Amino acid sequence: MPSALITGVSSGLGRAVVARLSREGWEVTGTVRTLEGAGAKGHPPGVRLRVLDLSRPESIAELAAAVLAESGPPDVLINNAGTLHFGPLEDAPPAEIQRVFQVNAFGQIALALAFVPGMRERGSGLIVNVGSLGGRMVFPFFSVYNASKHALEGFSEGLWHELKPFGVRVKIVRPGYIDTPIYEKASVDRAGVAGASQIYRDALTKIVEFERRVTRRTRPEEAAEELWIVVNDTSDRLAYPIAAYARSLLFARRLIGETRFLRIAHGRWFGRS
Ligand SMILES: NC(=O)c1ccc[n+]([C@@H]2O[C@H](COP(=O)([O-])OP(=O)(O)OC[C@H]3O[C@@H](n4cnc5c(N)ncnc54)[C@H](OP(=O)(O)O)[C@@H]3O)[C@@H](O)[C@H]2O)c1
Repeated sequence: MPSALITGVSSGLGRAVVARLSREGWEVTGTVRTLEGAGAKGHPPGVRLRVLDLSRPESIAELAAAVLAESGPPDVLINNAGTLHFGPLEDAPPAEIQRVFQVNAFGQIALALAFVPGMRERGSGLIVNVGSLGGRMVFPFFSVYNASKHALEGFSEGLWHELKPFGVRVKIVRPGYIDTPIYEKASVDRAGVAGASQIYRDALTKIVEFERRVTRRTRPEEAAEELWIVVNDTSDRLAYPIAAYARSLLFARRLIGETRFLRIAHGRWFGRS
């Protein structure tokens, strides 16, 4: 059975993907930031949990070394772990910007690169990066998060080219809205609105309201089903929009053009200017 290493399986999409692959009999290793309480998350029996904190480069190196020593590079690496930041760019502390890029981009890149030589020498492997709709378009106050996802897009496309001659495939998924705790973990309301510069308050309040009204969020299990299809797509396709609104928003932007799309989105939150 194929083996898969999936990062960030304590909740949300990662947790559902672990269940989906395990159901097929795959050999699944998932990462969590701490093993404390991880057993209570109800992962299927047979799933191996390992510790990974992407904000600490030494943790990435330790995980990669342990996996390589035990079983070599996995057949499939799913770079799923991610963290959200919300708020005006000028309010974002530099250390927070660094943290988000470390977890969502540098950490993902470092982990993938740890397995690339082995996959290349073996002549097979699949790296699936979990990007975001926000890796293709940016909404106000998601600038830091979305910029980190843009970085992941660039990295994925570059690696796609570099590894294609060696039989190693690279893919990126671009989720729209999935019903996971990622927003609560980012403390959107507290960090975003209450702590924000007065000058951005109105627009911030509008976008928080807008996000709250997005009730059609894909269930993690359904998103995992879409990801399962991606994992099994043996074509050289790079990118896949998945989950609610991803396809429609990307299509709308292409259809009406970038500037018009930006103006319409801007007017919604900032009024006409
Ligand atoms: N939900 C959406 O609407 C949406 C939309 C677009 C893209 N995405 C992307 O989908 C992926 C999965 O997110 P999700 O929505 O399922 O959210 P989630 O439930 O919060 O899952 C994120 C996972 O990443 C882990 N993680 C966070 N910081 C980490 C770190 N420093 N080191 C290692 N692991 C860390 C979390 O662990 P802890 O539990 O310890 O925090 C959790 O297991 C992310 O890459 C996210 O950006 C989600």
